[in-house]
Amino acid sequence: MLQKRYIFPALILFFSFLYSCENSSSEARQVERKISFNEDWQFFLGDSSKMASSEAQWRTLNVPHDWSIEGDFSPEHPAGVGGGALPGGLGWYKKSFTLAAKDSTKLTAVTFDGVYQDSEIWINGSYLGNRPNGYIGFQYDLTPYLNYGDEQNEILVKVNNADQPNSRWYSGSGIYRNVWLEQTDKLHVPQWGTFVTTPKVSRDSALVQVEVRLANKYSGVKNGILETSLYYKDQEVASVTAEFEIQAQDTSEVTQQITVSQPQLWSTEDPQLYSAVTRIKVEGEVIDQYTTQFGIRDFKFDLEKGFILNGEQVKIKGVNNHHDLGPLGAAVNKRAIERQLEIMKEMGVNGIRTAHNPPAPELLELTDKMGFIVMAESFDMWERAKTENAYSNFWDEWHERDMKDMLLRDRNHPSIFIWSIGNEVPEQWSERGAEIGRELARITKEVDPTRPVTAGMNPPVHTNEDDVTLQFDEPQQPNALAGSGALDLIGYNYAHQTYPKHQVNFPNTPFIATETTSALATRGYYEFPSDTTKIWPVRWDLPFDGGNADNTVSAFDQVRTPWGSTHETTWKIIKKHDFLSGFYIWTGFDYLGEPTPYGWPSRSSYFGIVDLAGFPKDSYYMYKSEWTNEPVLHLLPHWNWEEGQTVDVWAYYNNADEVELFLNGESMGTKKKQGDDLHVMWRFPFKKGILKAVSRKDGQVVLEREVKTAGEPAMLKMQPDRQTIKADGQDLSFITVNITDEDGTIAPRANNVIHFEVTGNAEIAGVASGDPTSHESFKGSSHSALSGKVLVIIRAGKEAGPVEVTATANSLQIATTTINLE
Ligand code: GAL
Repeated sequence: MLQKRYIFPALILFFSFLYSCENSSSEARQVERKISFNEDWQFFLGDSSKMASSEAQWRTLNVPHDWSIEGDFSPEHPAGVGGGALPGGLGWYKKSFTLAAKDSTKLTAVTFDGVYQDSEIWINGSYLGNRPNGYIGFQYDLTPYLNYGDEQNEILVKVNNADQPNSRWYSGSGIYRNVWLEQTDKLHVPQWGTFVTTPKVSRDSALVQVEVRLANKYSGVKNGILETSLYYKDQEVASVTAEFEIQAQDTSEVTQQITVSQPQLWSTEDPQLYSAVTRIKVEGEVIDQYTTQFGIRDFKFDLEKGFILNGEQVKIKGVNNHHDLGPLGAAVNKRAIERQLEIMKEMGVNGIRTAHNPPAPELLELTDKMGFIVMAESFDMWERAKTENAYSNFWDEWHERDMKDMLLRDRNHPSIFIWSIGNEVPEQWSERGAEIGRELARITKEVDPTRPVTAGMNPPVHTNEDDVTLQFDEPQQPNALAGSGALDLIGYNYAHQTYPKHQVNFPNTPFIATETTSALATRGYYEFPSDTTKIWPVRWDLPFDGGNADNTVSAFDQVRTPWGSTHETTWKIIKKHDFLSGFYIWTGFDYLGEPTPYGWPSRSSYFGIVDLAGFPKDSYYMYKSEWTNEPVLHLLPHWNWEEGQTVDVWAYYNNADEVELFLNGESMGTKKKQGDDLHVMWRFPFKKGILKAVSRKDGQVVLEREVKTAGEPAMLKMQPDRQTIKADGQDLSFITVNITDEDGTIAPRANNVIHFEVTGNAEIAGVASGDPTSHESFKGSSHSALSGKVLVIIRAGKEAGPVEVTATANSLQIATTTINLE
């Protein structure tokens, strides 16, 4: 029986007291109850009959691990719709460990942040359970099965990603997120056992409410004190205590309220964080401690003014991203996620939609810290499947649990502002869709009443007059999900023509564009004329037989899908109306799978504003010129064309009135953006040499940029993103390798194969160029360049010291760089 005991604020006030800022006890905060359980796993790929054989080859490795990314590209491997092209399969992991005799009085649990997919787990031969959903974290209590002292324990994990296709994008396979061993007293705060909210927020003061769940696994009643202290930058700012009593084998909930004066508010520009440290004290001794990071902020979605954060209107300038980390595959690495977010932040992005599943916990730790407006999403499908072997097979049994667990795990993150209950679910057109929508919204509100619910719908309203994006042969049914009452925000996928009419179509529900754009580009590849728009494929439901023989797509913002729109068209609409709270562009980064508009031999997407290696395509600078105050002057294309050929030159710029372009010193004219223009363009016959742009404000030069005709490829140049990294076995240095001519100008068509060698305590974690058609391994020690660039990722070992990385290629001057491990 569950006994709930709420202790109300009045009672708490009696115990509560404020500390002064000096009274810090951050030392006590360092007590960690969970430790990494990532190292020294044994891995075997194959079915159980092979595994049992004495010849079975088990490989020792550390998780997070993704075996798909190690495989060969082949059209036989449909890891995503028409792409991904990497193998799934059946995999096994096992790990032996011992526990100290003194640990036998504690509870011991294992937490998996995510296993793709359909895992089954045993401890010392006893079955712990099955978790089909590959994106959900889960925990098993190991206590009843453990050995202590010298005797070994063995945990065995079966991962079933054999039935393909089961995803519309590259999923990865294996224990691809972190694993933790957690030890607590029998009286403790269980997993996801706190809920911190801020019911009242002003610049002067904030009311912080902490709901704490307590579990007593002892065979007797337990009494004690529950103390919650709030910290800001390691300084304790407030504390509150309450008495509790819990029956044997029971749980209890305690609600505490604390006032924080002069709170430091969380915002995208200045994401201030607090932590709530909850301690259980019995007879004066702290027997359990649980830390919850949170933020203090106030927000709403307004029918007229869009998104309001701490009283100020903020346009959501977001991107969708899938979870893969390019050449690293799905295997989680915090630095790799951080680098992606840094690249987005630098472009001016302030929002992330976790398309279309719960993300790694590390992503949310970083979005909290770096200031992004996150839309956290649960499902890409409900009852009705989008691929064979899809999650829909597990829907009936698992959807409620999966939805709840996502909410429980993530509801304390200040960066989450929107819950999405689904993406383009086929049920959206039917009454069943409305019913499921209401069920998921109810679950969401029960676990977290503080955030709005939405769903990505395509489109929420569909009229013949707007029928320019989807081109259905049949007239569409009204969208039942949009009209179900389940949604606090109407979530639009595409259909940008309907946005200006949102207030007419949905007068009572605010707007969010959950997914937009789906424009296409290959980095560094350009077609002329640049001012015509190509729709590739021609229709969403017809095969594509157009395009270029080498599966390239022009990087002028001129190619889009039929359901999508160019970057500029989309942003112009979102920018124009206050009631359009913002949008999430499809996508920030290219991802593995879905190589629209092509199929094999392409294997990864063209949608990214940034390519799979992390190199920006040109539209990146359009957004940067609009979304940041940093001065931008970006010229495209490169300057290696046929003499006399008619070429277009675009410039993205900001903070200036005009741009003048010079070709070999001769002015090609001064241009100004007119009306809502987002770039300027010149057209003239190509002449090799130096193209130079000068932006000016009030007659004063703001920036100058040059693009030169490159000679033959001659040299390699290496640029690490960080020259010093941690010797922790995980940290990464991302090294860009440029192929240049003798004068150091990037050779924009160079595609030489570059070989890498590493000496010292580090290894190559991945190589990539951003070419969606390359079938070279991401895990090799060589890779060919795309448009003069390749990336090599170096992973630190655990011993400090210098690491030398050398790049070589036939006939090119070699390059070397030193990375310091500290
Ligand atoms: C959307 C879908 C995304 C992705 C995108 C490609 O309809 O929600 O997952 O497939 O299209 O344009």
